[in-house]
Amino acid sequence: LTKQEVVNRILAGRKQKPGKAGRSFAAANIALCKYWGKRDDELNLPLTSSLSVSLRTKGTTTSLSVSERADEVLVSGEPLSPESPVHVRMRGYLDLFRPEPGLGFVVRTESNIPLAAGLASSASVFASVVLALDHLFGWKLQLPELSILARLGSGSACRSIHPGFVEWEAGRAADGMDSHAVPLPEQWPELRLGLLLLTTQAKPIGSRPAMKRTRETSVLYAAWPAQVEGDLRNLKEAIRDHDFERLGRTAEANALAMHATMISSWPPVLYWLPESVEAMRKIWALREGGLALYFTMDAGPNLKLLFQASDEARVAAEFPGLEVVAPFGGGSVKS
Ligand code: DP6
Repeated sequence: LTKQEVVNRILAGRKQKPGKAGRSFAAANIALCKYWGKRDDELNLPLTSSLSVSLRTKGTTTSLSVSERADEVLVSGEPLSPESPVHVRMRGYLDLFRPEPGLGFVVRTESNIPLAAGLASSASVFASVVLALDHLFGWKLQLPELSILARLGSGSACRSIHPGFVEWEAGRAADGMDSHAVPLPEQWPELRLGLLLLTTQAKPIGSRPAMKRTRETSVLYAAWPAQVEGDLRNLKEAIRDHDFERLGRTAEANALAMHATMISSWPPVLYWLPESVEAMRKIWALREGGLALYFTMDAGPNLKLLFQASDEARVAAEFPGLEVVAPFGGGSVKS
């Protein structure tokens, strides 16, 4: 099945006449149990389910309109060259939604999170593009359908359709109609995430080829589905019970297990820089000293810290410049 066939199924009977403009915001999301490995590369169907928390206020706003000219993509007001990888990828995605061949789109994205630095994936970009398209065309799609369309842009984007804790159910269907995000009802106002920017250096390999290489060459990848199964159970119970230590421990172990599968790939995939390892050791030392502080990491060298509002001042003092996010709102205690 192709992406276009899935899009056609979802949009069957919907209006194809665009309005003047569409605009929408989607928050970035950080996985506590990672999506790593696909069962279908075309449709971004995962081998396992995953679970994330939305960054609420940190993400991407996209404005969209149609034009008689070729596609224009502007990031923070700066037009991208049509040869740039982001432009090429966006164009390929927009091809799925053109009401008439030859009609172009003007896409303006503004993100309040450093995307290129690998602090967040392209998730909030694709999710906000899908929401803006829905707005532009007046489709009024259901949330599972919006999540599926976002997944076709980037897997993790399907989770950025919802706020709060979100599970992406892997599904089993070949067309992926059962592979979309589902929000969890629990709120956790005391939960804090810290974005620790260690470097803005470009990463050596993107998450898409890295995940494919891992699945194809890592001997440890065979253990990954069982790891995920246990971690998902632990995370859901930790969220239900507001058991922070269990949440943190599970998220950190899950991220390290994912990186272990990457490191055991060939050629090896290692996103860690000396600064990443230094930060890990510092977190472990602080934890030894009694601070309930954990981390997670994605396909890049930067870390995301997990802690509670009551420790915010201490954590902020240990990591100057840390960007603190309250995923469920709740007054942050500034140091
Ligand atoms: C490490 O969603 O960027 O951030 O589906 O190929 O676009 P594609 O991959 P992508 O991968 C994200 C991987 C991750 C873990 C996660 O967010 O779950």
